Amino acid sequence: MKRFFLENYGCQMNAYDSGGMERLLVEHGYTRVRTPEEADVLLVNTCSVREHAEERAMNRLSEFARLKAERPELVVAATGCMAQRLGGGLRRRIPKIDVIVGSQALPAVLEGVEQAAERNAQGRRSRPFVAAEPLAHYLPPPAPSPGQRRLRAFIAIIRGCNKRCSYCIVPFTRGPEVSRPPEEIVREAAAQVAAGAVEVMLLGQNVNAYGSGGVDFPELLHRVGALSGLRRLRFTTSHPRDMDRDVVARLATAPRLAPWLHLPVQSGSPRMIAEMDREYSLEHYLEVVAAAREAIPDLALTTDIIVGFPGETEADFSLTLELLERVRYDTLYAFRYSPRSGTPAALRTDAVPAQEKQRRIRALLERQRQISHARNQRFVGRALEVLVEGRDRRRGHWLTRTGHNKILMLAECSVAIGGFALARVERAEGQTLYGAFVKPAEG
Ligand code: SAH
Ligand code: SF4
Ligand code: F3S
Repeated sequence: MKRFFLENYGCQMNAYDSGGMERLLVEHGYTRVRTPEEADVLLVNTCSVREHAEERAMNRLSEFARLKAERPELVVAATGCMAQRLGGGLRRRIPKIDVIVGSQALPAVLEGVEQAAERNAQGRRSRPFVAAEPLAHYLPPPAPSPGQRRLRAFIAIIRGCNKRCSYCIVPFTRGPEVSRPPEEIVREAAAQVAAGAVEVMLLGQNVNAYGSGGVDFPELLHRVGALSGLRRLRFTTSHPRDMDRDVVARLATAPRLAPWLHLPVQSGSPRMIAEMDREYSLEHYLEVVAAAREAIPDLALTTDIIVGFPGETEADFSLTLELLERVRYDTLYAFRYSPRSGTPAALRTDAVPAQEKQRRIRALLERQRQISHARNQRFVGRALEVLVEGRDRRRGHWLTRTGHNKILMLAECSVAIGGFALARVERAEGQTLYGAFVKPAEG
């Protein structure tokens, strides 16, 4: 009764939490297995951000619960944001579920799994184990793994969110902001680097709100960036409201900072931005973009956009298309608005029809596809430093990543995985760059 299968949905923060759950279970004698069939415990770390994310997690949990018909001793557990949102109510949807542990109570997962295993072994059917009350302590950080070297380490620096974007469920599932002490973050980053990580990505729903022991976000970046052995530093997500010229100037000088910034705008219409309660004006956003482009040379900029927020007119949507022309993002992530019960926007009655959302998202992605393609031409002919991340033996390609977070495929490469090389870009197609190995890059 010691093998678990764990599947993750949702954002990088959830993936980080999955790493923490894995460590907790492994440290208590459990082994992670690759397929549900081999496991005695099946965990789904769920996401609630959109209806679709919940449906996928729900389907997976139902599938796992059906396996209990053959193997009643199986433990099925839902963890994370949907478990936090629905709590014991999840049982109405999936009566056979054994354990429900919300994202604010994750350390309880061990106790939940052990109690359920014991109950199932004795053939007792009773209520599921439910933990959704916020706990004062957190999961351990994901274990650094020298065995299977992780090149990119993700590290949570701040949990929860104090913003109230009118469409968003995250503040309800994740609770209020709590920043981790800077020493703890630096120690974790150092351990990851010692185990072989060359890139660190600092995570938070809004990293710019970070503050602990007199250390703010730019200062934290400087401290982590100073770690010897670290080659690339990134962070996500930044909230435009908590950035200005001064903050940008301070963070831009952090050692090892990669030229990549994800800055969600959500819409190009000032009216929509206001109705989403994003707390910034379009002018402020554009000012932050200009400051970042001045301070970080050759910056790659990405964003998130929601189409079909209630009341979004054709004119509002055109303003979003105009914004794409104005900013010229490297990439964007586009989402159809999905009403989340309990959020202010869910009460609105001026929904945009599904078909119209579909049309708008298509138009948006098509426009961005052309912009990404055009933007990527700026790299052609240039030699870039790349991290060698893997090899696709079937197609004979080496997979590498530039500081701009772009994939650059190489036919040949004499640097091993985990090393840095200099590579010349020969062509750019859509999101991907193709090029030739030049020489190993100095450390
Ligand atoms: N904290 C981050 C990310 C939050 S979730 C931020 O503030 O940017 C990631 C993205 O999902 C958001 O940026 C938004 O574009 C999208 N999203 C959030 N809630 C949504 C909803 N109800 N419907 C559609 N997209 C949503
Ligand atoms: Fe959600 Fe807004 Fe917080 Fe991001 S900043 S998590 S979109 S409420
Ligand atoms: Fe989803 Fe929770 Fe992340 S709702 S996007 S897993 S914070």
